[in-house]
Amino acid sequence: MQVVTDIPSLKNIIEEKKQKGLRIGFVPTMGFLHEGHLSLMRTAKAENDFMVVSIFVNPLQFGAGEDYEEYPRDLERDTKMAGSTGCDLIFSPSVKEMYPPGYATFVQVERLTEGLCGASRPGHFLGVTTVVGKLFNLVCPDRAYFGQKDAQQAFVLQKMVQDLNMNLEVIVLPTVREPDGLAMSSRNKYLSPEQRQEAVVIYKSLIEAEEQIRKGEREAGIIKENIAELISKARHARLDYVEIVDSKELYSVPIIKGRCLIAVAVKFGKTRLIDNVLVEV
Ligand code: PAJ
Repeated sequence: MQVVTDIPSLKNIIEEKKQKGLRIGFVPTMGFLHEGHLSLMRTAKAENDFMVVSIFVNPLQFGAGEDYEEYPRDLERDTKMAGSTGCDLIFSPSVKEMYPPGYATFVQVERLTEGLCGASRPGHFLGVTTVVGKLFNLVCPDRAYFGQKDAQQAFVLQKMVQDLNMNLEVIVLPTVREPDGLAMSSRNKYLSPEQRQEAVVIYKSLIEAEEQIRKGEREAGIIKENIAELISKARHARLDYVEIVDSKELYSVPIIKGRCLIAVAVKFGKTRLIDNVLVEV
């Protein structure tokens, strides 16, 4: 496995692989890898000939006062973990390599980025689409792999690829969870032991919502209220949002019909965690 930090070296390697006709699978990450990332990598390896992982904590997608500085970083540990999945190449550029002085171009997906995390984190998705657009141009993947855990991000990136006629397939894989159900996240590291115990309420509230729907409840308002109430019982939890949206435009729905996404964001102190389930009736 090679680790490259500069764009010219990356381009050389990619060109060589493309000339050989190898199919490239790509997993973009911000590092501090966990089993959620590794599951994407294993699939990317199995479905392609050459597997590339990027590790880049993208300053553009963090708002003022968010955790860009504190975001956990450990390239040595990440390199070992990615290597264990059969990763062929890690691209881990500096901020200057990605955004040299004078950088001026941004990718903006509209509508889909307005609600959910887009509302709580203005500018976040502009940062995500810009960096992923750049990475797609650099890595030239045939397939790129994303997690359902960041459902809105996956929708937005699929839209970007479709609207900009990018020549690759976006593949979304299921959320990997801790044994108690908490969605794996690099940010779980920030939680105190007490917060970590309480955080399981997020997934529990989503499971209960699924159960309510299975029993026939269709009023989104009632389901959202129940989720909010369950979460409010955790002493350190503060609900950022709970939303039920359709799975095409991500518009809020009053009645559950067809495929819907139930998405929540919860703050434990300064740590913001998100989770979601897709339901179909
Ligand atoms: P990061 O949070 O490191 O996540 C990288 C990829 O791993 C994303 O596609 C994310 O959805 C997926 N992932 C995270 N936790 C997961 C889990 N528990 N189960 C399954 N997949 C999981 O998302 C980003 O980085 C960035 O926004 C990025 C796309 C790299 C752009 O900077």
